[in-house]
Amino acid sequence: MNIILLGPPGAGKGTQARRLVEERGMVQLSTGDMLRDARTSGTEMGKKVAAIMDAGELVTDEIVIGLIDEKLHQSTGGGFIFDGFPRTLGQADALDALLARNGQSLDHVIAMEVNDDALVSRITARSTCAKCGEVYNDITKPIPSDGKCTVCGGTEFKRRADDNEESLRTRLMEYYKKTSPLIGYYHAKGQLRWVPGLGEIDEVAGSIAKILG
Ligand code: AP5
Ligand code: MG
Repeated sequence: MNIILLGPPGAGKGTQARRLVEERGMVQLSTGDMLRDARTSGTEMGKKVAAIMDAGELVTDEIVIGLIDEKLHQSTGGGFIFDGFPRTLGQADALDALLARNGQSLDHVIAMEVNDDALVSRITARSTCAKCGEVYNDITKPIPSDGKCTVCGGTEFKRRADDNEESLRTRLMEYYKKTSPLIGYYHAKGQLRWVPGLGEIDEVAGSIAKILG
């Protein structure tokens, strides 16, 4: 089964994707995570990507489609969770073509609905484990009092460079301008499913599980 998790910054895409990996053995393809890896590479491309991400703007379609193409070649089985991809109509068309080339298709596009106020407070309270990427939140999912990641035992946690109010404003604008048209696109194709993203993490996971069956 192949699914897209669609939603604004802070909707909970990464959090739910990691659960699906754990519970169903699916493969998470997060273009945000791939780009954060690329920016540490020290290459010219990495430097350009870093500046764009920090400002909260979208990286070019060409770069992200190339990253996804590469991963689709490498990974097999389990089904894919596209987390933060596609983000433009051009990326959505490219994904259809890439999946068709591999004899695959999309099963569900899960749109996560969260209001802007909740997104701001979620993102400004987020941190992640530096070792395994587990996502924490100062308010709703704090780092355990012993300072160890619940998944891998790592003791170093980091905050993202784009998790500040100014970049977040741009990220939200980019979402509404360039990504939200995908809601109409997938609705027209009969693939869109809405999930209320404001509930607790377990509740949201339950809503997604009902859709996936
Ligand atoms: P990306 O990394 O994809 O960031 P994003 O879309 O802005 O989304 P986030 O990762 O911030 O949020 P999330 O929905 O994953 O929420 P999370 O689960 O962490 O992209 C970053 C940048 O890369 C982009 O701005 C762009 O520059 C570039 N990029 C990436 N993909 C691209 C593409 N396809 N095309 C072009 N450019 C691209 O949760 C957030 C917080 O809330 C956490 O603290 C979590 O613990 C908490 N939380 C989660 N669920 C709940 C809940 N139910 N209740 C309470 N708290 C919750
Ligand atoms: Mg994410």
